[in-house]
Amino acid sequence: MAEILIEGGRRLQGTVRVSGAKNAVLPILAASLLASRGVSAIEEVPSLLDVEHMIQTISAIGARVQREGTTLRVDATQLSSVEPPHDLVRRMRASFVVAGPLLARFGEAVVALPGGCNIGPRPVDLHMKGFEAMGARVTLENGCVHLQAPPGGLHGARIYLDIASVGATQNIMMAACLANGQTIIENAAKEPENVDLANYLNAMGARVRGAGTDTIRIDGVPELNGAVHSVIPDRIEAGTFLIAGAVLGEGVYVENAVSEHLTSLVAKLTEAGATLEDDVRGIRVWPIEQRRLRAIDVKTHYYPAYPTDLQAQMVAALTTATGTSMMTETVFENRFMHIAELQRMGAEIHIEGRTAVIEGVEALSGAQVTATDLRAGAALVIAGLMADGQTMVQGVHHIDRGYDDLVGKFQSLGAAIRRLES
Ligand code: EPZ
Repeated sequence: MAEILIEGGRRLQGTVRVSGAKNAVLPILAASLLASRGVSAIEEVPSLLDVEHMIQTISAIGARVQREGTTLRVDATQLSSVEPPHDLVRRMRASFVVAGPLLARFGEAVVALPGGCNIGPRPVDLHMKGFEAMGARVTLENGCVHLQAPPGGLHGARIYLDIASVGATQNIMMAACLANGQTIIENAAKEPENVDLANYLNAMGARVRGAGTDTIRIDGVPELNGAVHSVIPDRIEAGTFLIAGAVLGEGVYVENAVSEHLTSLVAKLTEAGATLEDDVRGIRVWPIEQRRLRAIDVKTHYYPAYPTDLQAQMVAALTTATGTSMMTETVFENRFMHIAELQRMGAEIHIEGRTAVIEGVEALSGAQVTATDLRAGAALVIAGLMADGQTMVQGVHHIDRGYDDLVGKFQSLGAAIRRLES
């Protein structure tokens, strides 16, 4: 098992370039299954365990995938099954969005229910509601969802999402691309990754309008083709480095960061005293003079509000802020497991319902800590970089799921951090 060893206290300086967005690549790989003609070339694909997992999942049902550097060539013209291996789907929730493409193209799909995970139960009832609205019969057997389109294929529908679910919006949008007629998704998720997915679908010949707004309209077409698509930069990776730069930096430039995707984070870091400047190629962050953030209150919510995927990283940065900060997590039920680990490093945090109350302390002290999910892992790395002394982070496989060479990128900014393979 790998571990990350950090010698805290170093200031960070220099330029780091963020990779392509994990949460765009995963649904786009699922969408590539819709192409009955031609080959897709998906560019700027990061090297992540989750991407490898999705490649395995679509390859298992006949897609032919070749990696050429950061480009994946995907040929889905000869698929062999509508039932991806259950263990693969169960192991990664994001695999569940292969259901919509398979149902749309073949009129049926059998997909294992994704396990919950340690940040909450994470049901898929809204995904099912959308498929049923388009005429599919949905049955649950042995932990698998069996989807069956009506004889003439799926038909358009007007679907209201009770929660602006990212995954449900993606699954329904993809299923609607080949349905008869128009589908309208209301209260749709507005994340940039969904806009990127819609752009790829339209490049394949789909007719998706309104992605990025509350209402998405999809006019079904008979067939889709492979397409070339370059994935957007990862706003969560960019945000992770901006937070680290705000609390530890002497001028950190995050190349490839898209400021329109990070307006809520930029606003909160500015409120906490950091200075951020964006140009067309990225965002530079300067720390506050006293080298510690001012306490702020943050509340996560659906895009464009402050992202839940940057919650843990901000909590870590606020552990040494001047004053008391409040972090409220409204998206997931149980996404505060990093707090127990931060307390082992001397953080003064207590939880009241969905809010973590963070009393700023003089300094954190290094300790042995364990990552519980990928963003908690990134938070513990930031805390280790901030702390006096040595920190050992375990559970590194969580970090490898969603960060492409996090250790190498922090090393390039001057951090005393290295990966130990035991
Ligand atoms: C996506 O997960 C992201 N994953 C998550 O990123 C991210 O935290 C999340 O969106 C919220 O922004 C990928 O894109 C691969 P949701 P997803 O459906 O689609 C409830 C990371 O760190 N819900 O928007 O699973 C659900 O329980 C990961 O990269 C229902 O109740 O999130 C949750 O409380 C972690 N019924 C809330 O909605 C449903 O049918 C948001 O879930 C679907 C969701």
